[in-house]
Amino acid sequence: MNYSEAFLKLEKIGQTHLLKWYDVLKDDEKQKLLDKIELIDAKVLASNGSNKDKETISPLKTLTLPEIKEEELEDRTLGLKALKEGKLACVLLAGGMGSRLGYSHPKGMYNIGINKTLSIFECQMNTLKERVKECGSFIPLFIMTSPENIDETKKHFEENDFYGYDKTYIKFFIQTEYPVTDLNGKILMTNKYTPASAPNGNGGWYLSMINAGLDKYAKSIGVEYFNVYAVDNVLQKMADPVFLGSIIKRGYESGAKVVKKVDPDERVGVICLANGHPSITEYIELTDELRFSKDENGEYLYNFGVILNYIFRVDALDRTKGNDFPIYRANKKFPYMDDFGNTITPTENNAHKYETFVLDMVRMMNNCVSFEVDRYKEFAPVKNLHGIDSVDSARELLIKNSIDI
Ligand code: UD1
Repeated sequence: MNYSEAFLKLEKIGQTHLLKWYDVLKDDEKQKLLDKIELIDAKVLASNGSNKDKETISPLKTLTLPEIKEEELEDRTLGLKALKEGKLACVLLAGGMGSRLGYSHPKGMYNIGINKTLSIFECQMNTLKERVKECGSFIPLFIMTSPENIDETKKHFEENDFYGYDKTYIKFFIQTEYPVTDLNGKILMTNKYTPASAPNGNGGWYLSMINAGLDKYAKSIGVEYFNVYAVDNVLQKMADPVFLGSIIKRGYESGAKVVKKVDPDERVGVICLANGHPSITEYIELTDELRFSKDENGEYLYNFGVILNYIFRVDALDRTKGNDFPIYRANKKFPYMDDFGNTITPTENNAHKYETFVLDMVRMMNNCVSFEVDRYKEFAPVKNLHGIDSVDSARELLIKNSIDI
């Protein structure tokens, strides 16, 4: 993109201030700025949130633990066969940093051990290796990082010899970024040639894989399902043959692992139907009316929360990839350069960050198995240092599960 093309693009979206310093930039800085402008996704700026408040929400039937038990043998056999044939690849969402833990590195590198060093990554790789043993073949693993944490994440895996995994099965890719604006929608600058940007949320994983050419690669090696999961759950059970088998048997396009909520206020997205379609309502969007509504037996109607472990069928993802995600806007404190070239570190929210969520992919699917798992065996999220969903509670659960930490 050259200067005039950049100017035209910015003029259409009211953002020509990005070129204010252009004349004083060195040649390489000019190029960097033009490259960044080319990447700006204008539709993000035009977004004004989702339209979910207009949807009719109703409960979705969950496959409960006793029901899963009844079909376990059959489903496990189906799932193990598919795993052995290389039909499932894992996608680890590791774009997040450990900032809430007071840790300025990729969250997966956080040491969850007590008597020994055990990073969250190692914890999850150990589980994946158990799966490999069970099915008898390596499972491809794609790791999504942010532009900020790619180098550290790769170095960490290299220094730890990929935790004994065959490294030819591990591929890293970088998630796309969206612009960061001030509260009036004007893109901020971080310096004279860098428009502000930030990772676009975990919903961007498939498009980012496509941008990296990894969707084609995955298909070329026979992958038919992606198992997408979060880095911050140290009991994450990926490539679960029973979960995969139950999706294959039903001929479904997706599945979501869910747990029975400990209470209606638990901060997990709830699985439901939106206008009759499988969907997830994120905890921040759940109204009190839905949160507390009960069925005739006194059970909460929206009692199952997602743990961020989904399986998607690749052909269904391809059908929907052009589908526009709802774009969420969050208020943040974001350091920036002011009109006079000074760097400002704000003390109050000054910026909008734009994100898409992986949970919105479920609504693009024609069907979804809501698959209950035992929360004490599969859900130990590490969101805070202490208290609920913390390093402390995760350690406790690891010990209860006889994992040596
Ligand atoms: C997430 C889920 C929520 C679920 C809960 C279970 C979303 C939006 N929310 O909430 O429904 O009940 O987990 O613990 O999915 N990530 C990236 N790139 C990003 C942002 C996030 O890779 O730009 C990754 C993080 O590294 C992490 C995962 O996505 O692995 C979860 O992200 P986070 O934003 O922390 O979601 P939660 O609020 O924990």
